[in-house]
Amino acid sequence: MPLLIKGGRIIDPETGIDGLKDILIEDGRIVDICDPVQKRGKSGQGNDLKEREVKVIDASGKWVVPGLIDMHTHLREPGHEYKETIRSGCLAAAHGGFTAICCMPNTYPVNDNRSVTDFILKKAKEAGSVRVYPIGAVSCGLSGEALAEYGELKEAGVVAVSDDGRPVMNSRLMRRALEYAKRFGIPVISHCEDLYLSAKGVMNEGFVATRLGLRGIPNAAETVMVARDIAICELTDAPLHIAHVSTAESVDLIRMAKARGVRVTAETAPHYFSLTDEALLDYSTMAKVNPPLRAAKDREAIIEGLADGTIDVIATDHAPHSSIEKDLEFDAAANGIVGLETSLPLGLKLVESGALDISDLVSKMSINPARILSLGHVGLKPDAPADLTIIDPEKRFTVDPNTFRSKSRNTPFQGWNLKGKAVLTMVEGNIVFKDESCRIY
Ligand code: DOR
Repeated sequence: MPLLIKGGRIIDPETGIDGLKDILIEDGRIVDICDPVQKRGKSGQGNDLKEREVKVIDASGKWVVPGLIDMHTHLREPGHEYKETIRSGCLAAAHGGFTAICCMPNTYPVNDNRSVTDFILKKAKEAGSVRVYPIGAVSCGLSGEALAEYGELKEAGVVAVSDDGRPVMNSRLMRRALEYAKRFGIPVISHCEDLYLSAKGVMNEGFVATRLGLRGIPNAAETVMVARDIAICELTDAPLHIAHVSTAESVDLIRMAKARGVRVTAETAPHYFSLTDEALLDYSTMAKVNPPLRAAKDREAIIEGLADGTIDVIATDHAPHSSIEKDLEFDAAANGIVGLETSLPLGLKLVESGALDISDLVSKMSINPARILSLGHVGLKPDAPADLTIIDPEKRFTVDPNTFRSKSRNTPFQGWNLKGKAVLTMVEGNIVFKDESCRIY
């Protein structure tokens, strides 16, 4: 039966649509995006429904946007299924409004060959929820020593390569990775960290670390690698994407590189524009993450970088860990924050504060990731697969990790009062998540 999404404000920066429209969907595809269907039998394709039966999703008061895409998710399968399986990660994604996620290769075994990519895609298909796009490893076993086989990985379905979780310390290997990946039309996603500078640091280097007596990681640990990777990107003219930008200096370097026409893109995660290292003042391991939460000036620079287009993407860096890894002394606890179920409302806070407008946010959470990773259809257009997210911009809620679909609960946002939430997530015409407040008749 055809589906009609009725009465919503369609916001699609790709097509430039921002207004009240209805969307007609049939066989998993968008058939038409038309002016609101008032009476049956009027002209116009959407209005030609006449006496045909349609299922109507009432989107009045809601925003309808192209399906959100998270280009930086850690699913823990294979290897650490007690933290997250492919299925639980997909359910968390759908609950958070994402129709597609890209999963990092730091699993056990590492996704550095076709059999692991095949396994992930098979499990994702069985989960039957959101789309999963695997990211392959830059180097075999994330060892930073020998390149993985990108041709084989690409053929199996990876959309990028990354050693995320670890930097590629060897600059020559990074050069070869960019050259090799370029041949297959996929970007290298760089985790920028100079391990000699981050040393055994566990949080941002600065006043708070001194007060807490914890070893710090200076901004330079990230920034020198951003500078290096931009230089290698310029040398190779291959697409480079900088993951989880956390420092003001990185934003400056990326801004200058883009002005020179370097093929670099960048992402940040909601915790870097929502929090500072002061979130660690009570030694909360929930806010322990790598790169670490930084100072207020970095947070401000990240918001500025998002606003002026220097930072293209907001990615969750969803990094599930269990209490076994988190309920420990600060030094011993694992790095990571779950993000799939909080990123959209945290992004909407930037819209509420006026830092971004809603179409910028949609670009950064859907259009830009789709373009950077060449995921195919972008935005809401006739004949495109019906991947979309319906957001209730007024829905207020308190973050309660017990309501997460993710297997893990490691969030520093517990108890935050947020406004705006996905109430329906649709992948190829299938409803993969629906809040009880969303009416279908
Ligand atoms: O905090 C982090 N957690 N940063 C990373 O780069 C990796 C991630 C993980 O896999 O847990």
